[in-house]
Amino acid sequence: MSRHVIAATRDLPPGGRRVVTIKGRAIAIFNIAGEYFGLLNRCPHQGGNLGEGRLIGLVESGEPGDYRYSRPGEILRCPWHGWEFDLRSGRSRCDPARIQAKCFAVRVAPGEALGEGDYVLETFPVTVEENYVVVEV
Ligand code: FES
Repeated sequence: MSRHVIAATRDLPPGGRRVVTIKGRAIAIFNIAGEYFGLLNRCPHQGGNLGEGRLIGLVESGEPGDYRYSRPGEILRCPWHGWEFDLRSGRSRCDPARIQAKCFAVRVAPGEALGEGDYVLETFPVTVEENYVVVEV
């Protein structure tokens, strides 16, 4: 597994998203309220670009007339046919046991730590004063 620095955190603010290509794989990165998520940019149904999908919340119901809305922005709807995926697990909302979008770990690393590990820096300068979004592939 390798760790790839893809952006400074200021360049991927809450509500932001970006598709990056690492080792030939397109990965969609999302910042949801300061928390980062990464999914393969290819829907397991027929290959739609998940990075272009609409972000919605979770709607659950125990009985008719009783609806609960939670986790705003953590459910991704594929732009092609509307399948929905949980950003935390990649699991399909319709068939979570069988269908899953591939997830990648995304975290924030301080600039001073980037010189200490096996990070792969893409194509921009890095300073120790900033934090960076890092994807593990
Ligand atoms: S390709 Fe994503 S729902 Fe069909």
